[in-house]
Amino acid sequence: MPVPFFDITRQNKPLEKELKAAVSQVINSGRYILGENVTAFEKEFAEYCGTKYAVGVASGTDALLLGLKVAGIGPGDEVITSPFTFMATAEVINYCGATPVFVDIDDKTFNLDISKVSCQISNKTKTIIPVHLYGLACDMKPLMELVAKNKIAVIEDCAQAAGAEYQGKKVGSFGLGAFSFFPTKNLGCFGDGGAITTESEEIVKQLKALRNHGTTKTYHHDLIGYNSRLDEIQAAALRIKLKHLDTYLDKRRQNADLYKKLLKEIPAIQLPSHPATCVHTYNQFTIQVDKRDELVGFLRGKGLSAMVYYPLALHLQMAFTKLRYKIGDLPVTESVQKCVLSLPIFPELLPDEIEQTCSAIKEFFKK
Ligand SMILES: Cc1ncc(COP(=O)(O)O)c(C=O)c1O
Repeated sequence: MPVPFFDITRQNKPLEKELKAAVSQVINSGRYILGENVTAFEKEFAEYCGTKYAVGVASGTDALLLGLKVAGIGPGDEVITSPFTFMATAEVINYCGATPVFVDIDDKTFNLDISKVSCQISNKTKTIIPVHLYGLACDMKPLMELVAKNKIAVIEDCAQAAGAEYQGKKVGSFGLGAFSFFPTKNLGCFGDGGAITTESEEIVKQLKALRNHGTTKTYHHDLIGYNSRLDEIQAAALRIKLKHLDTYLDKRRQNADLYKKLLKEIPAIQLPSHPATCVHTYNQFTIQVDKRDELVGFLRGKGLSAMVYYPLALHLQMAFTKLRYKIGDLPVTESVQKCVLSLPIFPELLPDEIEQTCSAIKEFFKK
């Protein structure tokens, strides 16, 4: 039987009645933008993240962009981030006219290697965007110590990591937290959506203006803003799914445990590991293997699924040619991009589907 990489319909099925009723209610209310569901979701999501506030926006990309705008990032500024992430993380730095500065990653956590950050800090560095990749928190303690010393803002890219914890604190509660609710994320909606978490009422005011054309009072625009609002239908669906998020994350962890048990005896595979102080949310279950591309072909040939996140790091992307990075500049990232392989891990994946995938991987390495 084929095994899908991701199947959101399995999650929706048991919630179908509730979701449809919530969507109908929005339709019948006649209020589709910035209504009571958005306000309620913002409160509930902030509570979940352990922050004072959350502000809904149109996507995770916009959450990062508006975070940078609030931090006052503009031309001439530098923003340090990871080269091993989705394009959006660095794209938004360019939207602001600022320059991304990429720092190499740690090959076990796939996150920024904080010991390499300080030598990249210059007097132009205004913000750092740590990415909690694959659902695992970045090493936030040394990072927060570093930024406190250097008066640099932190915008956490929490797109893949809603619910992840570092030393007992949820991601998004260290700096500004930028979340994505794209359907494949830990908490996903029926389209695009995002949110920014913060402790500051002043920042909430700015974000609420920025997401709505700079509006502070109807048809009064104090600044140039954006059209970046979370809509009522998405917020209504997110409120329902948020109630189940911890259960979904437990299932992701159970799936990861089963993979680890079944794959641990294959010496060619490096399994994901994480510091004991982190609670991983496994938005992706990513192993490292030689002959990765052959293995992907082998699995797909059997109707099984695997994906490569990410085959080409950002510093080597054509879109960033003008930054003048070259092969060899960030060796850990460059080595990792050749061997990472993500296996299906969504909460509703069946043990039998994990077993099928692992049997095929064993068969591949016995060949
Ligand atoms: C690490 C990371 N950052 C940012 C984003 C952007 O989020 P969105 O697709 O909601 O704009 C994504 C989405 O895939 C992501 O994985």
